[in-house]
Amino acid sequence: MSKDFKRYLITSALPYANGPVHIGHLAGVYIPSDIYTRYLRLRGRDVISVCGSDEHGVPITIKAKKEGITPQQVVDRYHAIIKESFEKLGISFDIYSRTSSPVHAETASAFFRKLYDEGKFVEQTTEQFYDEEAKSFLADRYIVGTCPKCGAEGAYGDQCEVCGSTLSPDELVNPRSTLSGATPVKRETKHWYLPLDKYEQMLREWILEGHKEWKSNVYGQCKSWLDGGLMPRAVSRDLDWGIPVPVEGAEGKVLYVWFDAPIGYISATKELTPDWEKYWKSEDTKLVHFIGKDNIVFHCIVFPSMLKAHGEYILPENVPSNEFLNLEGNKISTSKNWAVWLHEYLEDFPGKEDVLRYALCATAPETKDNDFTWKDYQARNNNELVAVLGNFVNRALVLTKKYYDGEVPACGELTDYDRDTIAELSSIKASLESNIENYRFREALKDAMNFARIGNKYLADSEPWKLIKTDAERVKTILNIALQITANIAIAIEPFMPFSAAKILNMLACEKFGWERLGAMDLLAAGHHIGEPSLLFEKIEDDVIQKQLDRLAEIAKQNKAAEVKAEPQKAECSFDDFQKMDIRVSTILEAEKLPKTKKLLKLTIDTGIDKRTIVSGIAEHFSPEELVGKQVLVLVNLAPRDFKGITSQGMILMAEDATGALRLLQPNEKTNNGAMVG
Ligand code: 2FM
Ligand code: ZN
Repeated sequence: MSKDFKRYLITSALPYANGPVHIGHLAGVYIPSDIYTRYLRLRGRDVISVCGSDEHGVPITIKAKKEGITPQQVVDRYHAIIKESFEKLGISFDIYSRTSSPVHAETASAFFRKLYDEGKFVEQTTEQFYDEEAKSFLADRYIVGTCPKCGAEGAYGDQCEVCGSTLSPDELVNPRSTLSGATPVKRETKHWYLPLDKYEQMLREWILEGHKEWKSNVYGQCKSWLDGGLMPRAVSRDLDWGIPVPVEGAEGKVLYVWFDAPIGYISATKELTPDWEKYWKSEDTKLVHFIGKDNIVFHCIVFPSMLKAHGEYILPENVPSNEFLNLEGNKISTSKNWAVWLHEYLEDFPGKEDVLRYALCATAPETKDNDFTWKDYQARNNNELVAVLGNFVNRALVLTKKYYDGEVPACGELTDYDRDTIAELSSIKASLESNIENYRFREALKDAMNFARIGNKYLADSEPWKLIKTDAERVKTILNIALQITANIAIAIEPFMPFSAAKILNMLACEKFGWERLGAMDLLAAGHHIGEPSLLFEKIEDDVIQKQLDRLAEIAKQNKAAEVKAEPQKAECSFDDFQKMDIRVSTILEAEKLPKTKKLLKLTIDTGIDKRTIVSGIAEHFSPEELVGKQVLVLVNLAPRDFKGITSQGMILMAEDATGALRLLQPNEKTNNGAMVG
């Protein structure tokens, strides 16, 4: 039996503020949580949705170091980008906070302190990796090495990104410091550990016995962690970025990011409302954590153990987590820039926020990894949003304008077909509700779209545009029903596509309806005047999609080039050998294509010694015009060679990069022709 809750507290995984948000995050976490929250709000439930930026942790300090700025500057930049892009996409958090806020520092410190005072931690001094050059302990991602599980290079001290294994620094083969590249040594350091083993029994009963209804991926991961046996976990780190460990003798130590981040949900609620305790400390609250699958252990094992250890907080009722979304067949990767970034999408596709929300919900990786492709995005827009939803709404409104000057006609006597259509609509409502409440948002979206499919079929079957000539009375009933369906659509799609729902209401000239009105056929009174119809969605043309595909192709090319290893070094040459080569700075005076050849250019060069001809096989890389006037380096004492009857006296020096592109080698400032290179 499912319990009746008085209120809902929805949390969405706090995104790391070391980069912008991409479609994988959206499909996995933020769109599902927003659909759920909007649905509950429409139902009039007491619900709050909290989120914020996760601003601690090693990836942020590494990024800061790389860019020569402070960690605070990194998080300020991305917090602003993430917050603004969520708002623009209509992700309706009640608060979007950040873990560098003073309220959070205070809340996380007090949480740690209470557990510390009550003896809930185990204090342990162990040997950990230390970089003697950088004079720093090497937490988590400050250490890399070969993955012991899959052999991949560059695995981190906490995780291998290639095979996904969770690691500890000790497991890495050939560990090295990412600060200096040095091989680290072991040094003693003291940390505080949460003895997860003590909570194992509680977790087994609570999850394995009590929450068999959780999604199988979540339940399965929890079971395998619990079956493997839990060990104490360190909740502090030797770092200078984070919340200081609030006890004596802990200088230079901060709370582990995975200890403070989930407490961020509590701090955000505190910032939002003085009533925050009602949401966190009452069994009448349904707490739901929306997360990505790489966060399962922290939200189902670690955070609940922390909450239990604290003693005053409720545990989550559910932890819906999706699998991963790929992009055009490849894993989304921030470091490889293989992603569709939300803030860029919003710039490239203004007014198409709902199209992204729709496409991502429809392809959400709910039960297995899934693939986002731009072609699929285009097809969903053109074949579903434009052809089904937009088309129906437009026909209903335009016909009302045309026949009744925008006044809702009265509904006359219903036919059996009308009654069947209405019954079908109300049966969708139950399915839609059950799908949302059970976190099956893809199915729920299909249900919502079915309102429009049924509407389209209703209009196509009853053909009011033909009947208007023979049975004008009947057309009034048909259009009344079509308009009621349109108003129903505005309710049904609101959780998924809030901008389009608002646009429909605006075109109908009416206020927002509550969810309880879904299925009603009296949403619009006869005689009500609707507003001006306009297109709900526009077709997306091939060239728009091609631009996105070209961008990805360019990124793939760059990534491939970055992966390419340089050719091995050639056999040694003596200084005398090198001295034999006479290389001079020269200027290209003339350039022309050699007739009947694809690759050859005939160049006239001023070498400073003389003016001479060089034939070069670079016509596919450079046009003659772009070469004229350029300074280049020329090997002038190369033995002459004939090409198509022309003698070439020398060779222009070039570099070929991994993509096969040629680059001219040039002096970095204008130099007199004839200057020697060596
Ligand atoms: O995986 C991540 O992006 C983490 N920043 C999620 C944190 S969720 C929570 F606990 F705050
Ligand atoms: Zn691995």
